[in-house]
Amino acid sequence: METVPRIRRHEEFESDIAGQSFIDNSTLFKWYTEDHSVSKHLLTMYSIVRGMNAKRILEIGFGRSSKVFARVAHENGGVFTCCDRFDFSYLFSREEQEVTHFVHGNSDKVWDSIREEKDLYDFAFLDHFSGEGISYRFCLREIITCMRKIRPGGIICIHDVADKRYPLHHLAHKLERHPSINALILPYQQGLAILQKSGQRILHHSMEDYGIILKSGIQHRLLKH
Ligand SMILES: C[S@@+](CC[C@H](N)C(=O)[O-])C[C@H]1O[C@@H](n2cnc3c(N)ncnc32)[C@H](O)[C@@H]1O
Repeated sequence: METVPRIRRHEEFESDIAGQSFIDNSTLFKWYTEDHSVSKHLLTMYSIVRGMNAKRILEIGFGRSSKVFARVAHENGGVFTCCDRFDFSYLFSREEQEVTHFVHGNSDKVWDSIREEKDLYDFAFLDHFSGEGISYRFCLREIITCMRKIRPGGIICIHDVADKRYPLHHLAHKLERHPSINALILPYQQGLAILQKSGQRILHHSMEDYGIILKSGIQHRLLKH
């Protein structure tokens, strides 16, 4: 028998979302009061994405956050791309599915699909760096790739940047000093980095270019880490 994938505290999650086309404010606040790892970041990201009126929203790593972004996509009149290695599409309501494009597969599948300027995202949430055996280099490559797939002025949030069990805690303070990024690190829970892409530069350079262009700067050190 085929089994469907499940998330943390799955029964409670299914009971929270049952019968809702989009999650309501009570659910949003209920999740805020809970102790799962993104709980204190969901309202923050909801406000950012709603406040910036993002029309193209991306997330790598399905979970409670996906229900938040589906709601904002609906409210903003935008579209939400949600990518996960496991097929969680069954957890979206019919109304959510109308604004959500679920990509079942690795993040590469999303990166490869963005080819033109009109495909660039306004906002992205990267939450796929907490698994076992994930390397610092993989995280860095994903972040740089994502930067190139975001429009100038767009925002990327990255989860797990303050948790010493995961490789990203090495990166957090370096991001704060990056010349093309406005960065804020929220250090509580597992940590959330909020990065705003300030210039055009990243978009036009490959990863190899990075090492060369920024030999004197932070990216060279990032790559050498
Ligand atoms: C920590 S969970 C996401 C939690 C979620 N954002 C939340 O709100 O609770 C990480 C998810 O990322 C997925 N994942 C890990 N590596 C991935 C990759 N390279 N591409 C796509 N999904 C990935 C895993 O299957 C898992 O479901």
